[in-house]
Amino acid sequence: MRYYYAEHQAAYRRLEQEGLTQWNDLFEDDRTGDFDAFPNRAFLERALVRLGLTTADVLEYGCGTGAAACFLAARGFRVDAIDLIPEAIALARRFARQRGVSVNFSVQDVCAMPAGSKQYDVILDSYCLQSIVTDPDRASVLTAVRDRLKPNGHYILSTAMYDPDRVYEDNFRYDATTGICYERSTEPADDAVQLDNTWYLPHRRHLRPEALRAELEANGLQVLSQEGELRGDVICTPTRRG
Ligand SMILES: C[S@@+](CC[C@H](N)C(=O)[O-])C[C@H]1O[C@@H](n2cnc3c(N)ncnc32)[C@H](O)[C@@H]1O
Repeated sequence: MRYYYAEHQAAYRRLEQEGLTQWNDLFEDDRTGDFDAFPNRAFLERALVRLGLTTADVLEYGCGTGAAACFLAARGFRVDAIDLIPEAIALARRFARQRGVSVNFSVQDVCAMPAGSKQYDVILDSYCLQSIVTDPDRASVLTAVRDRLKPNGHYILSTAMYDPDRVYEDNFRYDATTGICYERSTEPADDAVQLDNTWYLPHRRHLRPEALRAELEANGLQVLSQEGELRGDVICTPTRRG
């Protein structure tokens, strides 16, 4: 099993048991309980205005329970939305049905998208990328984004970043060189690494702004803007091939 599967599946099972509607409500003290108040909403709204988008073909990967996807569908965007975890997609379908909006949800790993599929005007990431930690996995995601964007399309990304005020608990270990946060593991599972005789699993990637920008550009994505307190709200377009 991949390093992030069990954690994410457990989160959505707990979310359903507790009657919550989105990922953030599990982890944030300032939970709103409001499905429409998803964390990157203000940035997404600004990006749509800035890019002059009122209707478009959108792919959201890592959509979770679908709050951003439903927001876009309610405004007339044609939305395909994928998540790795079946429990998340089941909830997303239920919440979309309750709101009377149409989103094409499916269970899909963004690191293993079939080649040659549809092209999009917008690809959206609402806090998925930090969970995809290793270099090969991140290259797979960014290649999938690059290959599925129309030439004038846009990648709208919100991701967790390096935060000098973040405190990593004792069972975590942050490697400042790579930006990888590891979580202690009881066994040598797939993707585990051994550090000081202890097994760890890749847990999150918390990059500094310049490292994120360099990674995007190395994968054929030109950064048009990078904003937010920690500079994790980014708009890209495919680099012109020349
Ligand atoms: C922090 S949650 C954010 C969920 C949602 N976008 C939100 O804002 O509530 C990250 C999401 O990415 C999904 N995810 C992680 N790796 C993925 C992958 N390889 N392919 C598709 N989804 C993935 C997780 O299952 C989870 O739903």
